[in-house]
Amino acid sequence: MSNAHEVVEKNVGLMIVLILIAVSFGGLAEIVPLFWQKATTEPLETLEPYTALEMEGRDIYIREGCHVCHTQMVRPLRAETERFGVYSVAGEDVWEHPFLWGSKRTGPDLARVGLRPITEQWHREHLRDPRQVVPESNMPAYPWLQQTPLDWSLTERKLKVFKNAFGVPYTDEGIAEQMNKINGEWGNATEEDALVAYLLSLGQERKEAAQ
Ligand code: HEC
Repeated sequence: MSNAHEVVEKNVGLMIVLILIAVSFGGLAEIVPLFWQKATTEPLETLEPYTALEMEGRDIYIREGCHVCHTQMVRPLRAETERFGVYSVAGEDVWEHPFLWGSKRTGPDLARVGLRPITEQWHREHLRDPRQVVPESNMPAYPWLQQTPLDWSLTERKLKVFKNAFGVPYTDEGIAEQMNKINGEWGNATEEDALVAYLLSLGQERKEAAQ
């Protein structure tokens, strides 16, 4: 006796097509609502756009591959929150382009590292020679960062792209203010200064939630 189900079972091509339709529908039903859900699309109220210095530091973080060994995403599991701090939410990453969640933890998660009781000086010493401060560390040293002047040539364009293309709320006056600092107090900044400023900014938007 032949019925519709038998037709599908005996016809692999048709079965593949129907499976694809079923799986796509299931996927879309899960994913599409997230595009409009406030919790996943709106920034936290406490979120601040990166300063020009922090943004350059972030690019050095990417250039040096820090994200290959460090995640920036604390999962809502007790073992993680006890060790790294309050878990991550989507609203803290809406201005991250690209996001740096990472997928491998050779070193600890860094999403909350700016809230840890470690000083700017510690970060500098650690970057120059990790084993001076953590003897068992296998993190590479980045001694050249302290000697390399920061290249500001693309910063203004970056800020504008983040404003215009990604909707990060920089204003023209705000960008002009950042440019003044680049021509003033940040004029002699090194790559290490920028990277440390970036590290210290990580997690600040979750400071209250962390308490
Ligand atoms: C080969 C893997 C590896 C790479 C690449 C790496 N790290 Fe690490 N990192 C580690 C390990 C392992 C530790 C833990 C030991 C220590 O503190 O040195 C660590 C620790 C840290 C800590 C201390 C965190 C804490 O909470 O104690 C910071 C900050 C850090 N890394 C920043 C960076 C930055 C910035 C870069 C890129 C310039 C980087 N790491 C690249 C492996 C790595």
